[in-house]
Amino acid sequence: MRPAAAQARAQREMRALRAVVFALALVPLARLFALGALDALTANPVEFVQRSTGTWALAMLCITLAVTPLRRILGWNRLARLRRMLGLFAFFYACLHLLAYAWLDQWFDWSAIVADVLERPFITVGMTAFLLLVPLAATSTNAMMRRLGRRWQELHRLVYAIAVLAVLHYWWHKAGKHDFAAPLAWALVVAGLLALRLTWHWARPPGSPPRRQGSLAPSPALPRSPPERE
Ligand code: HEM
Repeated sequence: MRPAAAQARAQREMRALRAVVFALALVPLARLFALGALDALTANPVEFVQRSTGTWALAMLCITLAVTPLRRILGWNRLARLRRMLGLFAFFYACLHLLAYAWLDQWFDWSAIVADVLERPFITVGMTAFLLLVPLAATSTNAMMRRLGRRWQELHRLVYAIAVLAVLHYWWHKAGKHDFAAPLAWALVVAGLLALRLTWHWARPPGSPPRRQGSLAPSPALPRSPPERE
């Protein structure tokens, strides 16, 4: 096949893959609407919505973090081009989770919300994770990537800290009930992803240049054009 035809085909495949991933990422939201319409959001719908959106925010964070390891293991570089969308879905579900809390749980009683954030450590940690996600979402465009250069990568490494805080938030939430099974499973997932990343970073031969994207070291030079996202 001629290079131009092969490129056009690759672009078509990428568009199709993006559309499929986009539709799949909306399934948890569609499910909530469907259950709501069927009046089947359990006996405590507010808790159900909060838990579901929180769980999906965490799942999307982990899926985003899994892109680079999967890409390296499977050698499928196109996966890197889904990373921004998946990261923005993590932010989207975190926004819905916060909205469910502020609206359905607290009825926008701002003084109660501030008191909750200050007094309940598990809410403090959740809010910290959310606030750290905001600059990542705000700088997710190609223009911001070009503008920030190597600082973009440094800023976006915060995603690991956010995942750790999210697990801590979950852990603390369940600590009162002594029910650690689910948070422990998520903690293992996040620890595994972090361990893989650190192992690859430390396994680099001494003196080799840092990888431009996705390494734990800053890139050596400002990229002229937006680098392939991971
Ligand atoms: C990146 C940000 C966040 C993530 C990933 C996250 C994730 C989670 C997860 C996984 C749960 C447990 C779900 C379950 O029990 O099955 C949860 C529960 C909860 N989260 Fe978050 N959270 C985040 C931010 C926040 C924020 C900002 C708030 C409020 C200010 C908040 C308030 C709550 C509350 C109240 C619950 C308990 C819901 C209930 O059991 O009724 N979270 N969150």
